[in-house]
Amino acid sequence: MKTYQAPLDLLTDKVILITGASSEIGHAIALTYAAHGATVILHGRNVTKLEAIYDEIEAKGYPQPAIIPLDFEKADDQGFAGLAGSIGLQLKRLDGIVHNAATLLTPMPMELNNLDDWLRLLRVNLVAPTVITRACLPLLKAAPSASVIFTGESHGHTPTAFWGAYAASKAGLEMVMQIWTQELENLHPDLRINTLIPGPVNSRSRRKTHPGEDHSQLPQPADIMPTYLYLMGKDSVHVKGQCILL
Ligand SMILES: NC(=O)c1ccc[n+]([C@@H]2O[C@H](COP(=O)([O-])OP(=O)(O)OC[C@H]3O[C@@H](n4cnc5c(N)ncnc54)[C@H](OP(=O)(O)O)[C@@H]3O)[C@@H](O)[C@H]2O)c1
Repeated sequence: MKTYQAPLDLLTDKVILITGASSEIGHAIALTYAAHGATVILHGRNVTKLEAIYDEIEAKGYPQPAIIPLDFEKADDQGFAGLAGSIGLQLKRLDGIVHNAATLLTPMPMELNNLDDWLRLLRVNLVAPTVITRACLPLLKAAPSASVIFTGESHGHTPTAFWGAYAASKAGLEMVMQIWTQELENLHPDLRINTLIPGPVNSRSRRKTHPGEDHSQLPQPADIMPTYLYLMGKDSVHVKGQCILL
């Protein structure tokens, strides 16, 4: 998986939503999927950043992307449903989602996580990917072999002191992924949902949580793209309900 060599046409004709496409891992996923033929839907909350990525994709001659801005902290039910609705209206199909957007806190004793911290992290990291998947289910079910990737976190997989609300929000995603896999497996066996835990990657969030680290020694976002390609493409159609740790 880590050394997967994707054919350049792996994602041709696929339409894929990438949340948090404005930052480093999400940006790398968007560019990589577009380079392999996908029409990517760039989600973020800052339109200027998304437009820069849109231009980068167009300049490389990849399929024309789409932009859907939405702030997960502020969105209501209509906002999440509207995201799915505009994908249906503009692009008519959806073959995959990478739920990459997340927010975090610097590590601290859980005793210091207040109510607002809990609500913000659960909303952005757990509730948003869950309700977006729900809103997009009709499109995903209609696709020939759709793939949904939740982004987990090692501290949400193995409980670790000082990662409190962030770890709990990511742990909840693993539960959601497994329940959905069970519920869909007989009725919609062609739709697969997995969790990918990227491991330490040199990105904005890692530099925030580990300021003293030598970041040049860490994997770069581009280094983990073979696994994202594998999980989105046809060679992983049998991989379901898995939590994959890089
Ligand atoms: N880097 C690592 O070492 C590592 C390790 C394990 C797991 N992960 C996971 O990998 C994913 C990407 O991480 P990263 O390091 O690339 O993080 P990042 O640089 O902080 O990017 C996070 C993305 O989420 C978006 N986002 C944050 N709050 C949002 C909100 N309220 N509404 C909508 N979008 C919002 C950000 O948009 P803005 O640009 O507008 O802020 C950004 O595009 C995350 O799910 C993270 O938990 C990362």
